[in-house]
Amino acid sequence: MTMSNKLNQLPKQFFASLVAKVNKKIATGADVINLGQGNPDQPTPAFIVEATKKALEDPMTHKYSQFRGNQAYKQAAADFYFQQYGIKVDPEKEIAVMGGSKIGLVELPLALLNPGETIVLPDPGYPDYLSGVALADVKQELIPLKPENGYLPNYEEWSPELRKAAKLLYLNYPNNPTGAQATKAFFEDTVRFAKANDLWVVHDFAYGALGNGQKAPVSFLQAEGAKDVGVELYTLSKTYNMAGWRVAFAVGNAEIIEAINLIQDHLFVGIFPALQAAGVAALTSGEGPLQAIATQYANRRQAFVTAAAQIGWQAYPSDGAFYCWMPVPEGMTSEEFSDLLLEKVAVAVAPGVGFGEQGEGFVRVGLTIDEDRLIEAVARIGTLHLFA
Ligand SMILES: Cc1ncc(COP(=O)(O)O)c(C=O)c1O
Repeated sequence: MTMSNKLNQLPKQFFASLVAKVNKKIATGADVINLGQGNPDQPTPAFIVEATKKALEDPMTHKYSQFRGNQAYKQAAADFYFQQYGIKVDPEKEIAVMGGSKIGLVELPLALLNPGETIVLPDPGYPDYLSGVALADVKQELIPLKPENGYLPNYEEWSPELRKAAKLLYLNYPNNPTGAQATKAFFEDTVRFAKANDLWVVHDFAYGALGNGQKAPVSFLQAEGAKDVGVELYTLSKTYNMAGWRVAFAVGNAEIIEAINLIQDHLFVGIFPALQAAGVAALTSGEGPLQAIATQYANRRQAFVTAAAQIGWQAYPSDGAFYCWMPVPEGMTSEEFSDLLLEKVAVAVAPGVGFGEQGEGFVRVGLTIDEDRLIEAVARIGTLHLFA
């Protein structure tokens, strides 16, 4: 059997090789501290599990789900956006239900672009954006995100050719992998730039609940006019420790929402109604769970960054998502450094280069492990005396 050319064009998963290396190390009996992942370690809150069990017992949830999602879930998403960000959205026209935001990210190039048209992606960035590029046969242009700009793109640097060619731009704040956050002013600039250059914007808000524990991250839709040019993708994966459940939604521009709904009419029959009930339980649960999760990761960050500073390892100063962005010692690549840590002290980190060329010089540390293990990881790394 041969696979289609399209499947053969799919990008190779850089992090598959990291997983293989970690598993090989574990197989030797080593006690590996795995800071290489982006998978929440805590269970889904019990009230969400309970609401789902109840929904599961209702035979109505066993039938084909409604195309384009249940009204109750879309209303809960709309109410959530109003309570969190003060943004009013029409649940029918401005919300699309998705089985995880990865689906939206991968299907949007197919829904909005013709083959050969240009999508602009951040470098460093979440590697799965590239899957959508390959499936839709579109052209990708990478824009560098640099530490000196707070890992925000600099629109001034776009050439006239790029401004003309670009049809779709992906952004992601709080950012994976750097932890950088955006400001409302930056999103306002983005809206102006998108309007001036006839560009759609997709803001991947996967870490929308994970700020510094005090201030919630800003939503793209809080920028005036954002709904004219784009959508935001909101997932419950990280906000409510529901990564395995695959529940998300897109919110914003009605034309893009219609495009998402149309492509999904052909690809899926909605998402399991009991999962939408879980989504309702989560999104209507108020500030408590949001505060708890943001505080937990902020405390872990504080513990890790403080311990790292004590061995002379200074984190890049970011406070969003659940990642620390850590520099690589002089004279090493990010892959050599992460190989060395795994080999010598059984600590796994994600090499920055896996997120794009601009990620070189850094590794990403995931805070999805408790504080004691984070501090132990730093202590092990300290025994290598790599930092001045
Ligand atoms: C930046 C970013 N976007 C999207 C996703 C995918 O999230 P979901 O579980 O909603 O598919 C992830 C998951 O790690 C992510 O890091």
